[in-house]
Amino acid sequence: MRVTMIGAGYVGLVSGACFADFGHQVTCIDKDVGKVAALNRGEIPIFEPGLADLVEANMRQGRLEFAVDTSRVGKAEAVFIAVGTPSRRGDGHADLSFVYDAVREIAPQLDAAAVVVTKSTVPVGTGDEIEHILRQKRPDAEIQVVSNPEFLREGAAIQDFKHPDRIVVGADDTRARAVLAEIYRPLYLNTPPIIYVSRRTAELIKYASNAFLATKITFINEIADLCEAVGADVQEVARGMGLDNRIGAKFLHAGPGFGGSCFPKDTSALLKTAQDRGVALRIVETVFAVNEQRKRAMARKVVAALEGSVRGKTVAVLGLTFKPNTDDTRDSPAIPLITALHDLGATVRGYDPAGMEQAKPLLPAVHYCCSAYDAAAGADAVVIATEWEQFRALDLARLKGVMARPVIVDLRNIYRTEEMKRAKFRYVGVGRAGVD
Ligand code: UDX
Repeated sequence: MRVTMIGAGYVGLVSGACFADFGHQVTCIDKDVGKVAALNRGEIPIFEPGLADLVEANMRQGRLEFAVDTSRVGKAEAVFIAVGTPSRRGDGHADLSFVYDAVREIAPQLDAAAVVVTKSTVPVGTGDEIEHILRQKRPDAEIQVVSNPEFLREGAAIQDFKHPDRIVVGADDTRARAVLAEIYRPLYLNTPPIIYVSRRTAELIKYASNAFLATKITFINEIADLCEAVGADVQEVARGMGLDNRIGAKFLHAGPGFGGSCFPKDTSALLKTAQDRGVALRIVETVFAVNEQRKRAMARKVVAALEGSVRGKTVAVLGLTFKPNTDDTRDSPAIPLITALHDLGATVRGYDPAGMEQAKPLLPAVHYCCSAYDAAAGADAVVIATEWEQFRALDLARLKGVMARPVIVDLRNIYRTEEMKRAKFRYVGVGRAGVD
């Protein structure tokens, strides 16, 4: 099948490379000349495990190419829209200008029987608007518009794409459904559940899923606060809850609040959609507000661990990305945490295995270091903000040796209290007893 991907960003690049790996003929089109040139040289602009190899192998075998020119769209049976839908400045709604611009641009060139598929996360009704644009620009054609939202997680994107829990296809037309079924056919050996729904339903499934996961995280984060107040252990509470199949163990890890390119933006956009329709989504509203407050509030833990003040003290923050295995710092909880520490008079030393370049413009006052131990040198406290593998087995004696004082604030609960007691650290986790 001939597939074109409009947008070689995170979703477009991963989806394009995986479709090529399924055996389809894929062209990824992006306006960014520099990015396309770099991709054609085999340079991958994002950090995603396994992606560089996948792109390289499929380019070598002639199934994947990158281009700036939209004229290639004409040959494709399916054209996926995978451009960004950032939060609109001012009102938090999804900014759809990139989506609509892309549709207007490709409209004259589309094959009369093409299927246009939105992979970008778009609010309910966007597919209708795309259809409207196409009907105006191409009254001659029978182009179908489908919603096929993407559920991949950064850092595990290829695994998620190739072994999805479900594939959601929002299309009423049987021909369009058949095209999508053919595109995903290589996954069928593993019988992934593919569900066919209306386009609006598909658009909403994506937002409802992200809002639900964000709710689950926020729920356990609030329970963590309660655990601290009553002397319970949130990890054991989560385990005890998660063993109930109706609840499930995933997304019950208490931490500094959710971040990333999806949950904050999508919960905010869902709220706007609901408000515009006069529907109250009070749970999602609360989740969003609680999470925003939580990120900055994490600084209070550091202050408490340093006897009530960080003024004039040095704090080492390990992990700047919103989660491990990505270089993405968008809406990372480390950002408001560090900003708050600066506001309270601390000096911050930072280290991240992949996200330092992205963090620098956002956090110019941080002293960037070349390792966890380098960051910890002379620090009054180490804060673990992201659970990178390399922070899970730090040499505690070495760490203690370089620090001014042995204090660890573990916002991801990656260490055991016993271990910290033995190593003689003051240790503070999230939602469980620490070591004084
Ligand atoms: C998410 C969704 O999982 C994915 O389906 C959707 O398509 C895009 O958004 P992603 O943003 O890559 O993916 O990250 P995810 O692994 O879901 O984590 C999001 C945030 O929640 C991170 O900041 C993470 O640290 C936090 N989180 C996650 C928790 O604090 N606790 C958890 O139990 C799980």
